[in-house]
Amino acid sequence: MLNTALFAVSCLTLLERSQVSAAVTVYNSDSTATAAYDATQVTGLPNFDNTVLTPPTPPSPAVTQIAWSVPSTEDGLTSQGYELGVKQRGNFLGFSVELSVADQITGHSVGKNPVNLKVPFLNYLANIRNRAGMGPLVRVGGNSQEASTLYTDGFAGNAIIQKVKVDGCLQTVTPTINYSPDIFYMMSNISSTVDAHWFFGLSFNQSAVETMSTNVPLVAQTAQQMLGYHLLGLQLSNEPDLYTDHNKRAAGWTVDNFTTEYAEVRTEILNDATLENKQFLIGPSVCCDKVGFELDDVFATGWLDQEKDNLAYVAVQHYPEDNCGVNGNYLNAQDIYSEWLNHTSATNLTVPYFNGTRAAIAAGKEMIMFETNTASCGGFAGLSDSFAASLWMADYALQMAYRNFTAALIHVGGQSVFYNPFTPPPSNMTDTWKWTTGSIYYSTLAVAETLGPSNNSQVVDLSPQNDNIYAPMYAIYENGAPVRLALFNYVSDSSGASDYTATISLGGADLPSGNISVRYMRAPSVAEKYNITWANQTMGAAYTSDGRLYREQETVSIQCDTTAKTCSIPVYAPSMALVFLTTGAMQEAVSSEQATATFATTYVNVGSATVDPAALSTGNGQMGSSATGATSEGSAQTSGTAGILAVPSIMAVLLVASTTFALRAFN
Ligand SMILES: *[C@@H]1O[C@H](CO)[C@@H](O)[C@H](O)[C@H]1NC(C)=O
Ligand SMILES: *[C@@H]1O[C@H](CO)[C@@H](O)[C@H](O)[C@H]1NC(C)=O
Ligand SMILES: *[C@@H]1O[C@H](CO)[C@@H](O)[C@H](O)[C@H]1NC(C)=O
Ligand SMILES: *[C@@H]1O[C@H](CO)[C@@H](O)[C@H](O)[C@H]1NC(C)=O
Ligand SMILES: *[C@@H]1O[C@H](CO)[C@@H](O)[C@H](O)[C@H]1NC(C)=O
Ligand SMILES: *[C@@H]1O[C@H](CO)[C@@H](O)[C@H](O)[C@H]1NC(C)=O
Ligand SMILES: *[C@@H]1O[C@H](CO)[C@@H](O)[C@H](O)[C@H]1NC(C)=O
Ligand SMILES: *[C@@H]1O[C@H](CO)[C@@H](O)[C@H](O)[C@H]1NC(C)=O
Ligand SMILES: *[C@@H]1O[C@H](CO)[C@@H](O)[C@H](O)[C@H]1NC(C)=O
Ligand SMILES: *[C@@H]1O[C@H](CO)[C@@H](O)[C@H](O)[C@H]1NC(C)=O
Ligand SMILES: *[C@@H]1O[C@H](CO)[C@@H](O)[C@H](O)[C@H]1NC(C)=O
Ligand SMILES: *[C@@H]1O[C@H](CO)[C@@H](O)[C@H](O)[C@H]1NC(C)=O
Repeated sequence: MLNTALFAVSCLTLLERSQVSAAVTVYNSDSTATAAYDATQVTGLPNFDNTVLTPPTPPSPAVTQIAWSVPSTEDGLTSQGYELGVKQRGNFLGFSVELSVADQITGHSVGKNPVNLKVPFLNYLANIRNRAGMGPLVRVGGNSQEASTLYTDGFAGNAIIQKVKVDGCLQTVTPTINYSPDIFYMMSNISSTVDAHWFFGLSFNQSAVETMSTNVPLVAQTAQQMLGYHLLGLQLSNEPDLYTDHNKRAAGWTVDNFTTEYAEVRTEILNDATLENKQFLIGPSVCCDKVGFELDDVFATGWLDQEKDNLAYVAVQHYPEDNCGVNGNYLNAQDIYSEWLNHTSATNLTVPYFNGTRAAIAAGKEMIMFETNTASCGGFAGLSDSFAASLWMADYALQMAYRNFTAALIHVGGQSVFYNPFTPPPSNMTDTWKWTTGSIYYSTLAVAETLGPSNNSQVVDLSPQNDNIYAPMYAIYENGAPVRLALFNYVSDSSGASDYTATISLGGADLPSGNISVRYMRAPSVAEKYNITWANQTMGAAYTSDGRLYREQETVSIQCDTTAKTCSIPVYAPSMALVFLTTGAMQEAVSSEQATATFATTYVNVGSATVDPAALSTGNGQMGSSATGATSEGSAQTSGTAGILAVPSIMAVLLVASTTFALRAFN
């Protein structure tokens, strides 16, 4: 959804390369240009914006009591007209990292082969792994995957990514991105430490594949060989409904042309690549409610039947609003703030996919929301980076889980967007405690704990019981019985007057014996950016995060009324409350030790860090004792450790060109 991509690049770091024609300028991100840390420069960046919006006025009179009847069996649920969604994994909510900034977020090469991973990024992923019982989902791709090419010999200076721009330095263009095989080594190294599962984006262009001017078959083969089972699929076509608008295809290129071209590219890949897994593609990834080019329209061409033997997943992408300023018309975030502050958004956003999701499931495919966030083209200052986004994303994710999506990926852009779940520091700042955790990151923790590590949780939205758009409620069932509840209070009122008490009953059935437990996602206001807690733990203000949670984990214990067979749960305005109904659900939840079992950042340098071998083995030790147990840390440790140890003397060249490259709004 890129209408106004602004690729502002300093011309300091130009490097001509023989692989590209003379008219093309290449910017390598392994620039040795230095930029001193300058706080004034930093405050100017959108990602560190100080805009604070005014929360909507609390509804009057305030609702202070809400009763919920949660059927104790699936039959009870069905008899009330509710149905459970499909079975979910705890890593439902993952990340979509724009290819063009992957080296800034995930890590980059140092020297010929070893890869320098960003420890904070590993921590952000480990937090999810510890809660979901399996590694997080990460997609590398986006608009910048189109026309990208794998350079098998790599690049000068061992850069992972190379940005190519055809115009003069200060033009507004979408760069072409090329990458070296090291990007897959890096992903593989990340998987060995935090069990990350990957999606990678292929360039989609039939004539380029046929004329061999891109090497997509080789990319598919290389990615599979290097990532093995940690590669979940390769996306082919990213927002094709916008191709003609973005001049990526000629006017008149329709959904039928799409389906024809898809088959041609897929055939070329199968002919030219040796693939271990032939159910490897992901599409169609339409995004934007284009009349005649929606998911149902793509399916109506026969695309799903045509492709299903080679599909891994079906995907769509969608943002509820945009900050693209089409024709200069920018929305005012304050005016639209309430769109993210009630349950209507979550329910409404899933409706267009009901038919397609049923068709995908009938074809044996899972449905993924491949890229989303609060708003495209960078999101909105004060909105995308506020606690409103945390509540909205958690609500929307659980709604998608209820409506049979099985994953959703939060988009991560460059320095100049408002919506990032995490952002590295903007210059060669001297230690790793300088990342910024975005409000939306907290949703990933809340959702991972809500769905839990069983791979067996099913979600139902019970909100229609009360029909209060500010107080939705989901129940999570396992093996036909309710185990957890997620209750929201979208009202922002620090006076306490809009807090409500949720009175829970199991439809007359006995409550589980003993107390029930509650964890909260909280902030003093929906407009809050940094004082956000999950179970009392936080990642702090801008430039203060190493990706770990700090403070003591809090699990509130609440005594239920065994005579009345009800439990009363306070739900603060604003907050999300996660209620563990059973001792079993509490036992499988992340413990306080596991909650922070991440990587110590003892060796630090230039806004990134190598993994200290001691820290790594400690980390693995903690992980070994965690609920996850599923990863092969023992076997991976040796090679993983060797692979990610960077040579300190090489660290001096690790100045990522993040101050030189200001990437604006790849979605
Ligand atoms: C960061 O940049 C400044 C200014 O160029 C330089 O003096 C300093 O050594 C750099 N810091 C590191 C850790 O490389
Ligand atoms: C880590 O990456 C290096 C290349 O940079 C590779 O040689 C090594 O096999 C990788 N290790 C693992 C465990 O993925
Ligand atoms: C597709 O590939 C052809 C052949 O390399 C090229 O001429 C054309 O510009 C490409 N189209 C897009 C939209 O990248
Ligand atoms: C779309 O497909 C039709 C039928 O094959 C073809 O005639 C037409 O040229 C295609 N349009 C574009 C823009 O590729
Ligand atoms: C609730 O959210 C919807 C959809 O985002 C929005 O259109 C509506 O204005 C909101 N309602 C209120 C009362 O704020
Ligand atoms: C709900 O979605 C439909 C389109 O799917 C849209 O027309 C309608 O305005 C939306 N309603 C709200 C309240 O946002
Ligand atoms: C889903 O399919 C039904 C029946 O074919 C149709 O009436 C409805 O409009 C479709 N819904 C969407 C959102 O396309
Ligand atoms: C989701 O899947 C369940 C179980 O198969 C089914 O009962 C339900 O109707 C589906 N929901 C939607 C929105 O398709
Ligand atoms: C959940 O699924 C993942 C991936 O398939 C697997 O590694 C893990 O062991 C499963 N967890 C449980 C509790 O079955
Ligand atoms: C942070 O938020 C909590 C409520 O979530 C509040 O009690 C506390 O006073 C706030 N701290 C600061 C420094 O604003
Ligand atoms: C929250 O964490 C702080 C800092 O670790 C601790 O002092 C406090 O007791 C914790 N609150 C609760 C209710 O556990
Ligand atoms: C049960 O909850 C009450 C408060 O609601 C608390 O006083 C009591 O200590 C809790 N009991 C246990 C075993 O956690």
